[in-house]
Amino acid sequence: MGLLLQTPRALVRRVLRPGAPSPLAGRTVLVTGASSGIGEATALAVAARGGHVLLVARRADELERVRAEVEARGGSATAYVCDLVDGDAVDALVVRVLAEHGAVDYLVNNAGRSIRRSLHLSYDRFHDVERTTAINYLAPVRLTLGLLPAMRAQRFGHVVNILSWGVQMKAPKFSAYLGSKAALDTWSRIAGRETYGDNVTFTNMRFALVQTAMTAPTEAYAGRGETAEQAAARVVRALEDRPITVDTVAGQVGEVLNLVAPRLSDALFHRFDRAFGDSRAASAAVSGAASGAGSGEHGDRSGDAGQHDQHAEQGRR
Ligand SMILES: NC(=O)c1ccc[n+]([C@@H]2O[C@H](COP(=O)([O-])OP(=O)(O)OC[C@H]3O[C@@H](n4cnc5c(N)ncnc54)[C@H](OP(=O)(O)O)[C@@H]3O)[C@@H](O)[C@H]2O)c1
Repeated sequence: MGLLLQTPRALVRRVLRPGAPSPLAGRTVLVTGASSGIGEATALAVAARGGHVLLVARRADELERVRAEVEARGGSATAYVCDLVDGDAVDALVVRVLAEHGAVDYLVNNAGRSIRRSLHLSYDRFHDVERTTAINYLAPVRLTLGLLPAMRAQRFGHVVNILSWGVQMKAPKFSAYLGSKAALDTWSRIAGRETYGDNVTFTNMRFALVQTAMTAPTEAYAGRGETAEQAAARVVRALEDRPITVDTVAGQVGEVLNLVAPRLSDALFHRFDRAFGDSRAASAAVSGAASGAGSGEHGDRSGDAGQHDQHAEQGRR
């Protein structure tokens, strides 16, 4: 039903021309956070459909590994090392990409970081809000703004944002993370209404748990959720069909509950919040007692000063 409502043209194309080449063939597809996880798997899947992939992340060695893997499988890719929280670096990336490839046809805003920490542990940690906002909201908006004019000029473009079902749930302990993801969700929805006439569209993907480096340290999540490859297959489908949102059933139920019974929703989520406490590492980062992301907790490679924030997409489970 969702496919019919959101992407009727794509549905007709899939029914009438089931063996048709992917719309990604011969297109330029920029994927941020392509050095691991969902971004890496997406890059490989896009290249397998004939798209030329522009790989963006900070770790040059990992980007080169992915680029080599794309080419070993017969695809084509170019790597761009960029720290997306550095605004000047993003602007320089845009200039370089447009000069080397012309307009980007598809953009996947995937790079991100997650922090799971209660409010009472966050009173002195405004920087949690600043850094999730920097990479999850400001960076993709800056990059998108840089690439949009060329997309609109060629009258074709599609942007996929990798978000979280927590945006619909309003999951406790994720206020810094989900606030930044919700901001991008809303910004893109509005931007898409303005660019619609230029055939430039947006998809907000609200993923549940995906098995990646972001969630791997949490033992309780072992074997749960999608693989990065399964998630990437859905990203490719979103690139090809251009729906407005891609949701989970649970995310949709949470969204409806928040709409029709908001106080009941608060009561339920408060119980979940009380039942599932903060991780040891999240608490330790505040007390300064310890660092590390082990013991089944989510770890953050780029945490500050030896402190590892928690980024658990499904802290409620
Ligand atoms: N895993 C889940 O359960 C889940 C669920 C819902 C949504 N998501 C979202 O999915 C996206 C991908 O996450 P993942 O699970 O695949 O985790 P991941 O393997 O840790 O990937 C994160 C990617 O973001 C890049 N990145 C982080 N900071 C960056 C910066 N400042 N500049 C450039 N690149 C940066 C990292 O590359 P470098 O370190 O090389 O820079 C890495 O490639 C994130 O936006 C996350 O919020 C994940």
